[in-house]
Amino acid sequence: MTLILPYAREDAGQPPSLHPPYVSTVPRSPRQPLVRIPQTLTELTGPAGCWDNLMGESLFDLTDQHLARPLGQRIVVAGRVLDEQGRPVRGTVMEIWQANAAGRYIHKKDQWDAPHDPNFTGAGRVITDDEGRYRFVTVRPGAYPWGNHHNAWRPSHIHLSLLGPAFATRLVTQMYFPDDPLIEIDPIANAVPSPYRQRLVSRFDIETTQPDWALGYLFDVVLRGRGATPLDPEYGEDDHHD
Ligand SMILES: [Fe+2]
Repeated sequence: MTLILPYAREDAGQPPSLHPPYVSTVPRSPRQPLVRIPQTLTELTGPAGCWDNLMGESLFDLTDQHLARPLGQRIVVAGRVLDEQGRPVRGTVMEIWQANAAGRYIHKKDQWDAPHDPNFTGAGRVITDDEGRYRFVTVRPGAYPWGNHHNAWRPSHIHLSLLGPAFATRLVTQMYFPDDPLIEIDPIANAVPSPYRQRLVSRFDIETTQPDWALGYLFDVVLRGRGATPLDPEYGEDDHHD
């Protein structure tokens, strides 16, 4: 018999649901104190190990989904998915979505004056291996304006969603790039208090970089616990765009 223990509810470093500089959190954040539901078997388990059947095959190369290569700087993003004890999370799905190199999403609400790329959809899906490792290939997304305030631009970022071993460990977050001056003036990134914000910034890595092919970035994800990767402040909301 497998002993199933509750997952930690560690809030340190997580963004508040209300962060007024991020304007849409004002109408969307809860008005009442949260009610914490007990963690029963439903929350402590998940469909780990059978993702292939549930989600379809891996889409690890976002630059190889159309007739030709997309425009932009080709990059490899790699890392590990770990649980609150630092153990690898095996066989879990990471879903990926992002803007193209010009900063444009394929979405009806995204109508700003930047081009679509007919060779880039901006969606992928990978499954971690036995050591919790993942790797995907894409192009570096561009910055884009988002109307939160005058002259508001989102830093380059990649949206990630992971369920982990149980429903209580689901995490939706955004990964940033280390040399981006927009991070420090971005209300979404700044909803995560310092120094935890730094956990959302990937690290350039020459070992992950492939000669004559792509720059490499490392980004580890920790589901829950003291070292947890901060969540997207709009976790679970209408987060396709921002
Ligand atoms: Fe975005």
